[in-house]
Amino acid sequence: MPSMRTIEAKPIENRYARGWHCLGLASEFGDGNPHAVNAFGTRLVCFRGEDEHVRVLDSHCPHMGADLSRATVRNNSLVCPFHNWSWGGDGICNAIPYSKTIPPTARIRSWPAYEQNRLLFVWHDPTGKPPSAELDIPRIDACFSDDWTDWVMEKWTINTNCRELIDNVSDMAHFISVHGVPVEYFANIFEGHKSTQVMLGKSSQLAMEGGLLTYATYYGPAYQITEMKGEMGGFTIDSILLNCHVPITLNSFDLRFGMLVRKIPGLSDEQNQEMAKTYIKFTQQGFYQDVAIWDNKVRIDNPLLCEGDGPIYHLRRWYQQFYQDEAEIPAAAREHRVVELNPGGLSTAPPLHHVFER
Ligand code: FES
Ligand SMILES: [Fe+2]
Repeated sequence: MPSMRTIEAKPIENRYARGWHCLGLASEFGDGNPHAVNAFGTRLVCFRGEDEHVRVLDSHCPHMGADLSRATVRNNSLVCPFHNWSWGGDGICNAIPYSKTIPPTARIRSWPAYEQNRLLFVWHDPTGKPPSAELDIPRIDACFSDDWTDWVMEKWTINTNCRELIDNVSDMAHFISVHGVPVEYFANIFEGHKSTQVMLGKSSQLAMEGGLLTYATYYGPAYQITEMKGEMGGFTIDSILLNCHVPITLNSFDLRFGMLVRKIPGLSDEQNQEMAKTYIKFTQQGFYQDVAIWDNKVRIDNPLLCEGDGPIYHLRRWYQQFYQDEAEIPAAAREHRVVELNPGGLSTAPPLHHVFER
């Protein structure tokens, strides 16, 4: 008699992914106040200095432990609420009001941060190495165009390890069973720090004549951009979706879901923005459907796959690179690989490329 399959799951390693992580709309950090961000098992503070640059520092003052997200921004420094030590954006203490000297170890960790696509990003690398330029977040021209709405953004906290979210990239079978989207064609492209899902499906709510074609690319471990065409109220809707997350702890993450929609001529800016809000509501239903599964499933390292399942194991090998020191990453994790599934038996596959890389 064949033996039964046993679910295996190693304890989650106490390490967070190396990469750029999106902290939401850059404009939210522009009010002159420090903002607390719980991420990577610690607490960070983000603030925009008077020179308009956003800085990210560890949030706990090493003098007596006060929380710098309650500090005051002065010039380009944070003044601690407890004894008023002043911390520069580089993490170095630059003034203590009651002391002539500053202890040489008066430094806190300063995290690389930058703005792209009107979003704020912070770089995490447990070894402390700065990011290389090839990992820069690609510019989305639509973010800066009057032909498109502003970002509509939703955020919520999910209580599971973020690998569950990443599995979606390759999990073709759940699109019909969980999201009710029959899939005509599905492919994954892996290449370096990018992984892409190409999907041609039919959606009752967001369907186009001839199907709903999406290109969704992860740039690194936590920032995914999707290009999607759909239809609502008789209009063709061109949209760009943002799906990004920041781990809070090993078993929780903040998920942000954003959307840009090409404005429909003849509608006012307000009407277009409203339309984007309605559209995001439809699309975010999909995330709630995933959350309902995550809330009750267990972690599994050895999924039992069958014909018709996507390349979950290869996806996880790709994803694992962000948890390894660069010298230890196997070449197979970064190699260019295309895996196609064609459940609809299409004779012509859609063009295979990363999002916007036609
Ligand atoms: S705890 Fe920050 S200055 Fe004392
Ligand atoms: Fe899903």
